[in-house]
Amino acid sequence: MSLSENKKILITSALPYANGPLHFGHIAGAYLPGDCYARFERLRGNEVLYLCGSDEHGVAITLSAEMAGRTPKEHVDHFHQVIQGIFHQLQFSFDHYSRTTWPGHYKTTQEFFEVLEKKGFIEERTENHLFSEKENRFLADRYVVGTCPKCGFDAARGDECQRCASSYEAIDLKNPRSKLTGSPLVLRPSSHLYLRFDLFKERLKDWILSKNWKENVVRFAMGYIDDLKPRAITRDSDWGVPVPGYPNKVFYVWFDAPIGYISAAKEWAEKIGQPQRWKDFWLDPETKLVEFIGKDNIPFHAVFFPAMLMGQDLPYKLPDELPANEFYLLEGRQFSKSDNWTIDLESFFQSYTSDQIRYAIAANAPETADSDFSWKDFQMRCNAELLGKLGNFVHRVLVFAHQHCQGKVPPLHPIDDADRDFLEKITLQVELAAQCYEAFHLRKACQTLMELCQIANSYFDAKKPWVLAKDPARSQELYSCIALCLHCIKAIALIASPLIPESAQKIWEMLGNSTKLNESRWKEIQVGHLPLGQALLPSQVLFRKVEDAEILEQIEKLGKKTKQEEPISYTPLKKTIHIDQFREIDLRVALVLEAERVPKSKKLLKLKVDLGFEKRTILSGIALSHTPEQLIGKKIIVVANLAPATLMGIESQGMVLAAALGNRCDLPEIQNLPPGSAID
Ligand code: 2FM
Ligand code: ZN
Repeated sequence: MSLSENKKILITSALPYANGPLHFGHIAGAYLPGDCYARFERLRGNEVLYLCGSDEHGVAITLSAEMAGRTPKEHVDHFHQVIQGIFHQLQFSFDHYSRTTWPGHYKTTQEFFEVLEKKGFIEERTENHLFSEKENRFLADRYVVGTCPKCGFDAARGDECQRCASSYEAIDLKNPRSKLTGSPLVLRPSSHLYLRFDLFKERLKDWILSKNWKENVVRFAMGYIDDLKPRAITRDSDWGVPVPGYPNKVFYVWFDAPIGYISAAKEWAEKIGQPQRWKDFWLDPETKLVEFIGKDNIPFHAVFFPAMLMGQDLPYKLPDELPANEFYLLEGRQFSKSDNWTIDLESFFQSYTSDQIRYAIAANAPETADSDFSWKDFQMRCNAELLGKLGNFVHRVLVFAHQHCQGKVPPLHPIDDADRDFLEKITLQVELAAQCYEAFHLRKACQTLMELCQIANSYFDAKKPWVLAKDPARSQELYSCIALCLHCIKAIALIASPLIPESAQKIWEMLGNSTKLNESRWKEIQVGHLPLGQALLPSQVLFRKVEDAEILEQIEKLGKKTKQEEPISYTPLKKTIHIDQFREIDLRVALVLEAERVPKSKKLLKLKVDLGFEKRTILSGIALSHTPEQLIGKKIIVVANLAPATLMGIESQGMVLAAALGNRCDLPEIQNLPPGSAID
């Protein structure tokens, strides 16, 4: 096989924010793919260092800590544990799981900054920022609400209006107020440090273009590089890594978080008692660095962090591979905790094994397009594939071997054409699986595994060993058949090991092996044969059947409110208007003809609607609650006489009416009247 061995491979998965239990979608995007890859590369005989850790700074954390009535440290301590628990349940095999509140991370971040400063990549600028006199502090965008400068919505967020989806600077909001206390905000000058990303433009461009990465990653990164400007890397806060020489300032979370990959390696090196060992991975050009991320993290990993690395004195590795996965949806919609459109991980782990969960996610991983977790698909993966194809083959062969081969590995001799063909196919599937893992194609790896199970079941059926068993003159044929099936089970365990490590180990042991499969070598297992006469263990159940009733129960739970709902916060009533003012608004029924997401926007959908007398393009900030498919063919209500506005370079010729409560959003729908009907 041409695949590499004895190479150093440094693997990272994006550091999750420690401000909530892990997002299910991120498991599919950044963590499971990273873990399967790390497990595969270890099996290949490479020296793997797989790192992750909690991302514990930033405004999202201080805000949710304040809302939860905890200090930021209490908050991150809590969620650091919760997240580690989830990773543990899913059998993730990090060599080290760190956290960005580790003091060694502070030191590393500060040293990083000092080198950038010494080399002239940092400049100071003074600009106006929103300040709360009542709270005596500058407020970050997320702490600010106000009136949208574009549509006038009076409870608009600090950086983006949830009603018209416009983006703006917080200082452009009218009547800005503190989200927490409601106190008015004033503009005050504050100095911040900017990193001159613009000075890295050419080096970044050459570097990205030298990579053979997914087209969307390159395109997305190049889009950022074309427009590279200096960016502020400091914030006015007391939660974060302190900026040396600037009291009351901390580094912006996206400055310190990726440095966490380096400090995690340092902490790991200390843990194993070889404090300099991190350098063998981070500073050796021969190391292969692979960073697993979700697509929303592309700019930081393909542009900003590499620039920070380029600006250092030490020869840090830049990522060699950046497998950036797409979004993972639940039954066609984005996961949403507030709508209970989610999966409760705790009860999920209680009901199903980590291997069932890992396999179902991997088989549908969002590799080339957004993909979907559906309960029906989960049931099919567990029952038809894991149990029906894989579990069933292992079981029938082992039972047969115990009944007709004294529970031992029988001799493989002589073999006929069908046997030879089977043997070749086994070898082929194992090689194919290796290529899939190497290329980060988890879905294909799952398919390859199932194809092998299918091939094996067909071989067993065609050979009819139960017929051979009745004729003592054909015992050698019978033995060869069972020996080959056991050889195939060994290959199944090998291919399955990165995906479903617990079950793979159980299968490995059923074959009479007492070693750890994940400490073995891919190639040796691939070419080797089970020792003749090795005693087999009795077959044990690998996967339980997932019943229809439990799946129905899960589907019914979706979208239903749980008991511990957050208190509803209603938008304050607006001032009374005269009927004539209301009559000036022309509301019409509009039929949605086309709908699509707006590139680079999480929230905007672009709709083409029919008003009966004309067609229009309308942008609406409803992408978090509605997929394009859900809208096509619906008759909705639009404001038809609103002056056009340009958002993300697209002219929006009207506004969609939507009901909103917190993060939830719903659209009124007209059943009978045609497009163009007036609403008054
Ligand atoms: O998007 C996120 O969840 C970030 N916490 C990822 C950080 S990745 C790395 F740079 F630390
Ligand atoms: Zn607005």
